Amino acid sequence: MFIHCKLVILILVLTLDGQVHTGEIVGGHEAVPHSRPYMVLLERHMQNGKTQHCCGFLLNEDFVMTAAHCHAKSHTVLLGVHNVHKRGEIQRVTVEQTFPRKDYNETVYKNDIMLLKLSSKAKFSENVKPIPLAGQDDGSLPKSCILSGWGTTDRVEKYMSLVLMETNVTLIDSELCRKENFYCSEGKTGPGEGDSGGPLVCEDGKAYGVVSSTFKPHSGAPLIHCYAKIPDHRSWIDLTMKNAWKRSNTYKY
Ligand SMILES: *[C@@H]1O[C@H](CO)[C@@H](O)[C@H](O)[C@H]1NC(C)=O
Ligand SMILES: *[C@@H]1O[C@H](CO)[C@@H](O)[C@H](O)[C@H]1NC(C)=O
Repeated sequence: MFIHCKLVILILVLTLDGQVHTGEIVGGHEAVPHSRPYMVLLERHMQNGKTQHCCGFLLNEDFVMTAAHCHAKSHTVLLGVHNVHKRGEIQRVTVEQTFPRKDYNETVYKNDIMLLKLSSKAKFSENVKPIPLAGQDDGSLPKSCILSGWGTTDRVEKYMSLVLMETNVTLIDSELCRKENFYCSEGKTGPGEGDSGGPLVCEDGKAYGVVSSTFKPHSGAPLIHCYAKIPDHRSWIDLTMKNAWKRSNTYKY
């Protein structure tokens, strides 16, 4: 079962073959502008000179969280975005340092989580605010969650959405997902290309997961969408931010 999933994840995530659909925010709708002020549009400046996009979310004035597979040569964080063409209202901040999980496994997308330290502090406003993270795992599974992102809304064309889209998803209880430190949802509705790194926000308004990967089980069963499980990474997140903060202060004084 696992080997099979691994292959399908590879096919779905690493190719842009029009025949293979990665799922997208289908049945989703445009978010009320700036109703999710923690959302980050992440520019990935690639080795080959191209720019690609991921999503992320603001944790405090110094850190953004995204997926480890959104790594790049360098990154720029765009804050306060709703419509990507309305440049006037967007705050651009470069990323000074990246902290991917050292045990990120790019074959199976395990521990697909990364912290980005901003080179200057984010300025909070009505449109730019951080989101709190879910606490350590207490074994309970949140049910009703929301995803948002600028990822593809079209299966074939693969264009990014120009405005922030969102949709509700229901998490499923699966042994495979639990074993791999994922939260999972299933069905056509879910994240697409470009939604990677965005948050899974559940009932209490906290971020529980990071959009990671999608696979299609054999037997034509529904697509499974996987989210890196934040409660399982809380100590690493807190420690990484604390150490980075200490280092930057040592450097200054
Ligand atoms: C990634 O996970 C797979 C499946 O568990 C394992 O076979 C492989 O060795 C892992 N790769 C790394 C680099 O740890
Ligand atoms: C979506 O989720 C939110 C929060 O969990 C909930 O308040 C809302 O009723 C849900 N909407 C639908 C259409 O299920």
